[in-house]
Amino acid sequence: MMLELRDISAGYGSDAVLHGIGLGVGAGEIVTLIGANGAGKSTLAKTVSGLLSPLTGEIYFEGKRIDRLTTAARLKLGIAHVPEGRQIFAGMTVAENLALGTPRGADAEQLDWVCDLFPVLRERMESVAGNFSGGQQQMLAIGRGLMSRPRLLILDEPSLGLSPLLVSEIFTLIAGLRARGLSVLLAEQNARAALSIADRAYVIENGRVTLSGAASDLLHSPEIAARYLGVGVATAASADQSAAMAARLRQFAWDGV
Ligand SMILES: Nc1ncnc2c1ncn2[C@@H]1O[C@H](COP(=O)(O)OP(=O)(O)OP(=O)(O)O)[C@@H](O)[C@H]1O
Ligand SMILES: [Mg+2]
Repeated sequence: MMLELRDISAGYGSDAVLHGIGLGVGAGEIVTLIGANGAGKSTLAKTVSGLLSPLTGEIYFEGKRIDRLTTAARLKLGIAHVPEGRQIFAGMTVAENLALGTPRGADAEQLDWVCDLFPVLRERMESVAGNFSGGQQQMLAIGRGLMSRPRLLILDEPSLGLSPLLVSEIFTLIAGLRARGLSVLLAEQNARAALSIADRAYVIENGRVTLSGAASDLLHSPEIAARYLGVGVATAASADQSAAMAARLRQFAWDGV
């Protein structure tokens, strides 16, 4: 496993929110964390990137123990975190926001790579980010995360507040990152969208892993459907969404990405 968490407990102050978490992300995998509001997904994301220190347990990245390293040190090793709520700087331009993502100073080659991935960023490089739509802001947040040339990208709720069409677009892009060799740890409340692109998934409930497995198995599990995928009308709408996403993914593959 590229990333491995062993028996991780973590929280705020001395109060644990996560209890005995064990999980892994393999090279070139998209692994999703599914869970309700307050389950502990963001806490887990922050513990991996170093914004929070675990109370107990160990974290390994490419065989190296990292749980006592700073966020900056983990970023240099190749772990980038795109936080929940995007947290881009609204008063700054796209160029300035992207520059914040490079720990080693300007990187024109990587900037080009990111702009090929998100052409809208190239077009609006000198525009102030606060005027962007939610989807464009999310692209900028992901773009900033990619500026450090990460090997593991942690994405926390990239679908938050986006329309179904934009969710589909963002998730297609995330699948495209895997095609370019990145590993992704994806925390999402939108379980259907996340499971549609993920290789494997962990269900987090009250800070514990209660279920894990292949994403396709979880997508078809009645238990997951009842708890996380919605029922009735919502399912019908989401099924359309999944079909649209699958079509886009095929197109993406066809485009040679
Ligand atoms: N900064 C904080 N200080 C204290 N408690 C916090 C803090 N952030 C989160 N918590 C608590 O930790 C628990 C897990 O929260 P977390 O944000 O990790 O959940 P989540 O699964 O990401 O939820 P959501 O889907 O709403 O983003 C919740 O009970 C929350 O109230
Ligand atoms: Mg969260």
